[in-house]
Amino acid sequence: MKINSICCLGAGYVGGPTMAMIASKCPHIQVTVADMNAQRVDAWNSDVLPVYEPGLDAVVASARGRNLHFTTEIRAAVAAADLIFVSVGTPTKSYGIGAGRAADLRYVESAARLIAEVSHGHKIIVEKSTIPVKTASAIKAILAANSSSEATFDVLSNPEFLAEGTAVADLENPDRILIGGELTPGGNAAVEALVSIYAQWIPRQRILTTNLWSSELSKLVANAFLAQRISSINSISALCEATGADVDEVASAIGMDSRIGPKFLKASVGFGGSCFQKDILNLVYLCESFGLPHVAEYWRQVVHLNDWQKSRFVEKIVRTLFNTVNNKRIAVLGFAFKKDTNDTRESPAIYVCRDLLREHAHLAIYDPRVSPDAIRNDLAHVGVSPELIATNVEISTNPYAAAAGAHALVTLTEWDEFRTLDLPRIYDLMLKPAFVFDGRAVLSNESLTALGFESFVIGKGQ
Ligand code: UDX
Ligand code: ADP
Repeated sequence: MKINSICCLGAGYVGGPTMAMIASKCPHIQVTVADMNAQRVDAWNSDVLPVYEPGLDAVVASARGRNLHFTTEIRAAVAAADLIFVSVGTPTKSYGIGAGRAADLRYVESAARLIAEVSHGHKIIVEKSTIPVKTASAIKAILAANSSSEATFDVLSNPEFLAEGTAVADLENPDRILIGGELTPGGNAAVEALVSIYAQWIPRQRILTTNLWSSELSKLVANAFLAQRISSINSISALCEATGADVDEVASAIGMDSRIGPKFLKASVGFGGSCFQKDILNLVYLCESFGLPHVAEYWRQVVHLNDWQKSRFVEKIVRTLFNTVNNKRIAVLGFAFKKDTNDTRESPAIYVCRDLLREHAHLAIYDPRVSPDAIRNDLAHVGVSPELIATNVEISTNPYAAAAGAHALVTLTEWDEFRTLDLPRIYDLMLKPAFVFDGRAVLSNESLTALGFESFVIGKGQ
């Protein structure tokens, strides 16, 4: 089964960068990324890509126009492809059965229906979006019921493990590639066809093949384990603050045990991003659906702890500022859910800012990559009224403008530039006492104290 032409449905954070890397590494394969969002497609075809990722511009430039194309002509792109990645969004369902937990599969289903409609001959369909276990069955059923008699399909699962901000490095040099397929001669051949694409630049021993359900489940479980580590260290951050311990020292001490390992132990104001919460809730829903309430409850706690971490941070701010932030200017540094991305989905900053606005604070928000419109839209989506956004939210163009006249400065994203802030200048600009609440432990507690700030750094006991 030789693959000459690939189509990817969905030009989002996953589809765009992943296809750019495949096109760059496989010049003999034509790769077309198709999305109905014309604005997004135009941006992929422009000099300002819709996704900010270090190094991505160069990867796109190496292949675009040669064998990498972005289009809104979805039907034509699907019809021409030997292999189709489905990389459409799978948000948490906000209505009806499973609301707030189950994945909303309407985009996956409509993609499958479209593929069925326009396909002739044989095609390999690859689930890239994170989806609940057994979605491949649903896709297969839709394809079988809606396609012409001469169309045949193999369905594979190939979850993406890239993290935003490091997408290019993760795609170039992944820990592993996971491909799940049916254990039939046809399924094996389809798996081999996809393996041979990745094998163009990834050592074979890092390409893992499994059955379909193991592959689908592994993606949810990987994200659940990663998020669990963060909730675990965040739970300890509260204990460190109470006891006088330092969470970074504890993390180093436990991380040197090779069974625990040093990564993903950075205490924070909470994890965000489009995957962790969504995937855990998905896992919880799966467990409930399969009659495993104890397992569901166990994983639900990871999300509960994360919510608590955000709300206790806000409480700390309000209590410290003499129990009121009413009309007080608070400089907020960072709005993205992590550094080196313009993505704000589920960013802890959204919830911290919402709760401070509920207390009638005035926010001066600075983020180096997130647009003012995105910040205002995110706040509106979590219920902050347009009037309050107009009167109490200012978007600053640099950290010093945000800090000018502020009662407090709050860091919510670990952007590198915050580590080298001119703290004496910030101190001079702020009202006194000058309070700092460092939700990412990016500032030096000792320096802050020496300069006269009243500081609180997450996980650092006084
Ligand atoms: C995650 C997974 O890492 C990736 O494998 C999967 O494909 C998608 O979901 P992503 O959400 O892009 O990737 O970023 P990640 O680096 O995992 O960070 C998620 C959140 O956890 C961020 O808000 C980050 O700031 C936070 N985090 C991460 C911590 O608070 N502490 C840590 O030690 C690590
Ligand atoms: P992810 O982070 O998983 O990449 P995004 O929400 O960033 O998710 O991107 C998903 C993209 O998929 C969106 O740009 C959306 O317009 C697109 N999309 C949804 N349904 C379809 C479809 N049937 N065909 C093509 N693109 C689709």
